[in-house]
Amino acid sequence: MSRIYLDNAATSWPKPDSVYAAIDHAQRVLGAPAGRGAYYEANDASRIVDHARNEVAKLINAPKSRNIAFTFNGTDSLSTAILGLLKNGDHVVTTVVEHNSVLRPLNHLQGEGLIEVTCVGCDEEGFVDVNEIIASIKPNTRLLVVNHVSNVTGSIQPVDTLKERLAVLENQKIVFLLDAAQSLGHIPVDIQELGCDILASSGHKGLLGPLGTGLIYLSDRIVNSVNPLRFGGTGTEGSVEFQPEQMPDRFESGNLNVPGIAGVHAGIRFLNSTEGLELRARRHANAARLLQGIREIPGVQIHGAKEMGQRIGVFSFNISGWDCHEVASILDANWAIQTRAGRHCAPLIHRALGTEPDHGTVRLSVGLFTTLEQADLVLESIAKLADQSGR
Ligand SMILES: Cc1ncc(COP(=O)(O)O)c(C=O)c1O
Repeated sequence: MSRIYLDNAATSWPKPDSVYAAIDHAQRVLGAPAGRGAYYEANDASRIVDHARNEVAKLINAPKSRNIAFTFNGTDSLSTAILGLLKNGDHVVTTVVEHNSVLRPLNHLQGEGLIEVTCVGCDEEGFVDVNEIIASIKPNTRLLVVNHVSNVTGSIQPVDTLKERLAVLENQKIVFLLDAAQSLGHIPVDIQELGCDILASSGHKGLLGPLGTGLIYLSDRIVNSVNPLRFGGTGTEGSVEFQPEQMPDRFESGNLNVPGIAGVHAGIRFLNSTEGLELRARRHANAARLLQGIREIPGVQIHGAKEMGQRIGVFSFNISGWDCHEVASILDANWAIQTRAGRHCAPLIHRALGTEPDHGTVRLSVGLFTTLEQADLVLESIAKLADQSGR
């Protein structure tokens, strides 16, 4: 049985051939660090990193590519933003939809008595209410962290009105941090239109890069208010004993993951290629088929946005009478359908969805290479399990 990989929200697989080729070239042919040598291969490694930075800037409509730094994953980007920005006495507004990579650094700072956190709820489709976010802002609110697309429900949060709502507030020191780990590569993300000051993302999910890649964008307005987590060599200003203040060096200490960044570069280029655009349309069509199909199976509860226009192909469901871990194990054992069961590192949303007593949900996340036949086999398999609910 060949594997039917439906865990693309964790990390995308397979990657396009051009991504494997770019990683292999960086490893096997270049084998050199970026920003550190003047020989041919080292220059080429630096060039690849520059091109990747430009490609990310174009993707998110960042005014300058140097405001983007490469990190090791989405968690690294979020910790950089949260731990680097917040100070004693700050208040933070966030949501129950957030991933632990947001909740845990916030809870750590709150546990130390340094900050206060307000967590806004969501409705049964997993949507947060922008009015509630705005109403939670206080004079000492320094940070607003919002998940763009939930890794549990796939619901796209209505963040497009936040910019105007924040602009009219008296408190103008609020930093808007968008967790775009599940949105980049799936839906358009324009940081200028959204008015976000910081965008944090993985590079290995929708952007199709390898594991061990991530990125962070910081606007000029706030970049100097965010302290780096890591200090060290940057290949620049070698005689200066302090961390360079300018981007991207401020957040890029130590040798960069050149093979990984080369993979992200190739991944974004693939997404924008003719083939990539066709596969994205197919991914959307397969997701729509799964949404409709799962919804029609008796005994199955599917969570998140009901309309395909308000979500991506990340689906959480439960089958009456089955434990979610049991479902995931049987799907894998019987049909090599690889899903994920549990809380998906987002513990708070399960209270809102009512999936806490079930220990979470089964999650299917569609990828660029998921086929229609695979989607249909998944539907048949879920229906078979649901049929045995009264076993
Ligand atoms: C919404 C969200 N934010 C952040 C992360 C963390 O990203 P990474 O796994 O790259 O650390 C994830 C990972 O699943 C995620 O889904």
